Amino acid sequence: DFGLMTYDPAYTNTASCRSAITYIDGDKGILEYRGYPIEQLAEQATFLEVAYLLIFGELPTKDELDEWTHAITTHTFVHENVKSFVEGFRYDAHPMGMLQASVAALSTFYPEAKKIDDEQVRYEQIVRLIAKVPTLAAFAYRHAKGMPYVYPDNDLNYAENFLGMLFKIAELKYDADPRIAKALDVLLILHADHEQNCSTSAVRSVGSSQVDPYSAVAAGVGALYGPLHGGANQSVLEMLQRIESVENVPGFIDGVKNGNERLMGFGHRVYKNFDPRAKIIKKAVDDVFEATGTTNPLLDVAQELERIALEDDYFVKRKLYPNVDFYSGLIYEALGLPVEMFTVLFAIGRTPGWVAQWLEMVDDKEQKIARPRQIYTGARGRDYVPLDQRG
Ligand code: SDX
Repeated sequence: DFGLMTYDPAYTNTASCRSAITYIDGDKGILEYRGYPIEQLAEQATFLEVAYLLIFGELPTKDELDEWTHAITTHTFVHENVKSFVEGFRYDAHPMGMLQASVAALSTFYPEAKKIDDEQVRYEQIVRLIAKVPTLAAFAYRHAKGMPYVYPDNDLNYAENFLGMLFKIAELKYDADPRIAKALDVLLILHADHEQNCSTSAVRSVGSSQVDPYSAVAAGVGALYGPLHGGANQSVLEMLQRIESVENVPGFIDGVKNGNERLMGFGHRVYKNFDPRAKIIKKAVDDVFEATGTTNPLLDVAQELERIALEDDYFVKRKLYPNVDFYSGLIYEALGLPVEMFTVLFAIGRTPGWVAQWLEMVDDKEQKIARPRQIYTGARGRDYVPLDQRG
C-alpha cells in the first residue's frame, strides 16, 4: 500500500536527484553554475569555458582550456552519411524535429558510446556532442533554406563557426561581426544549464537506463521543443508579431486575464522573482541592435507588455516575471534567424548542461534507473466480459 505517497502534479516538491552543478534561488533570482554567479560568467567567460566548468566542475586553466577547445574544434565535422539523413526530411521540416532525430542518429555512428563506464569513451562522446550539435543545427537550417551545407571552419571560434555554417555564401570567407559572435556566446552561456528543468529531467531519466548519451540528449531535445519549455522563445516572437503594436497591448492583456491568451516568455516554476537571465538578455538586445544596425518595433511591444505585467495585480499576485525566453527571440531575429531556429539555439546552449547532468547521474553509483510510482485511481479486480455479452 503506497498510502503515504503524495501526488505533486508539478513535481516541484519531489527531488529527483542530488546535484552539485547548478544552484537556483527562485525567490531571490539567483543562478550559479558550480557556485559562480551567472552575471560574472556571462560578463567574463566564454561558452566553451562555461561548458568545461559545468562538465568538469572547475574553471579550466589555460592549458586545459586550450586542450578542450582543440578537442571540440577538431570534432565539429559529422559523418558524410548524416547529410543524406538530413536530406530525407521534408523541405518544411521543423529544425527541432530534425535536430532531435539527427542527435539520436549519432548513436548509430558511435556504437562504442554504449561503454558509458569507460572514462575515455565518455570523454570522446562528450566532446562530440558539444562539437557536433551546432553542425547538425546548421545543416537543418541550410536544408530548410535549400542551400548547400557549409563545412565547419576550424579557424573560427565556436560562435563564429556556427554563424559561418548558417550564413556563409558560396566560397566567400565568413567574417562574423565580433560583437554578434560575442552576443551569441553570451546567449549560449545563459542557456547552458538550469538544474532539473523538463528537458534535463528527460535526459537524466532516459540516461538512467544506461543508454548512450546521444539517445539521452535526443530525449532532452524533444522535451525542449515544447512551447511551455524551450519552444517558448519561438512562441514569444509569434505572440509579439500577433500583437503587432503597443496600442494592441491592453487588449492582449485582457485576453490573458480572461484565459484566452498566455503571456509567453513570462512565468516560471522556480523563479518567483526576476529570471536573472532575462535581465542580462534584455541588455544584450540593445548591443545586438547596434551591431546589426537594426531596430525592431516589437521591442516596444515587449517592453510595454513587461511594464504592464510588472504593475498589474493579475501578474503580480501570480508572481509572473519575464523569463529567459522573453527577449531572446528578438536577438535571434536580429541575427537573421527564422523563428523555427530559436529553440535550436536554446538546444545548442543547453547541450553542455544536459551532458554535465548525464555525467553526474552516470557517476552517482547510488543513482538507480528512473522508475516513478503513481497514485492509482482506476478500477480493480474486474472479470473479463466476452465480446458477445458487451453492451
Ligand atoms: C523555460 O524549468 C526551467 O528551468 C525551464 C527553463 C530552463 O532554463 O530550462 O527556465 C526554460 O522553459 C522557461 C519557461 C518558458 N515557458 C514560457 O514562457 C511559457 C509561458 N509560461 C508558462 O506556461 C508557465 O509560467 C510555466 C510553464 C513556465 C510555469 O508554469 P507553472 O509553474 O506550472 O505555473 P502554472 O501553470 O501552475 O501557473 C500558475 C498560475 C496559473 O494561474 P491560475 O490557474 O492560478 O489562475 O499562473 C498562471 C496560470 O494560469 N500563469 C500564466 C502564465 N504562467 C502561469 N498566466 C499567463 N501567462 C503566463 N505565461
